[in-house]
Amino acid sequence: MVVQCLVVLFVCAMFNAIDRTTSTTKNPPPTTVTAQQPLGLNDSLSCDFNNNFCGWKNDPQATDEWHRDESGVLYAYLVVENTALRLLSPIYDRILAETGCFSSSFIIQTGLGYTIRIYQKPVNVALTELLQNNNIGKKEYILFEAKATTGHYDAHINPVTALKKFDDDFQIIIEVTCNKFFVIPRIDKVAILQGSNCTAVDMTATTPSTDTFEAYYIHTVTTTTLPPTTTRRKKFY
Ligand SMILES: *[C@@H]1O[C@H](CO)[C@@H](O)[C@H](O)[C@H]1NC(C)=O
Ligand SMILES: *[C@@H]1O[C@H](CO)[C@@H](O)[C@H](O)[C@H]1NC(C)=O
Repeated sequence: MVVQCLVVLFVCAMFNAIDRTTSTTKNPPPTTVTAQQPLGLNDSLSCDFNNNFCGWKNDPQATDEWHRDESGVLYAYLVVENTALRLLSPIYDRILAETGCFSSSFIIQTGLGYTIRIYQKPVNVALTELLQNNNIGKKEYILFEAKATTGHYDAHINPVTALKKFDDDFQIIIEVTCNKFFVIPRIDKVAILQGSNCTAVDMTATTPSTDTFEAYYIHTVTTTTLPPTTTRRKKFY
């Protein structure tokens, strides 16, 4: 019990420390996340979480929850091995996947590793069904995955992944699992972009060295709208 309390204190202290050090970079100018044309949906194609969750919500079936701080960052603390949390997007029109990408920005610190996944789930597949799949079965729905097995203080991860062309409207799901000893994930912003805007954001994306990870996968398409998979990305499937 004493050990658990110390762990929580330690984690909170670290979080407070990082909170101060990154506070100057947390509020991007609103122009960088301007909403795209609504395409039959409302204004939830991008979110910087400055005012609300923009229609994203916690998965009530997960063991933990994302919280939003007043500076517009979603954060969570996972301290127990194999606990997980998920963030579920609104439902998006399938037409967005034709030339679309999903861009997101994370800052993650961990004691001994975590797995972060971004899924694209067609609405005709239930979440419980997707999660019951083994890793091979899940692969069809995974846009991005990074698995870390060593500690790091402050990794910026900024995946820009192509969307899959399912024959259905879809939902994006962001999942973080604590592999061993605490993980503190933070989400700065998310956006579904189109065409040249995907290329533009991908060019400036912060991608940590793949050496940091035991596994690193990002779904890309080799068309002219996105740069092809390059050496900075390690495919592990
Ligand atoms: C977006 O759509 C949802 C559901 O239709 C609605 O509740 C919400 O008010 C809409 N938001 C805006 C800004 O129109
Ligand atoms: C790219 O983003 C800008 C600014 O948000 C927007 O006006 C433009 O329509 C977007 N281009 C495409 C191809 O979606």
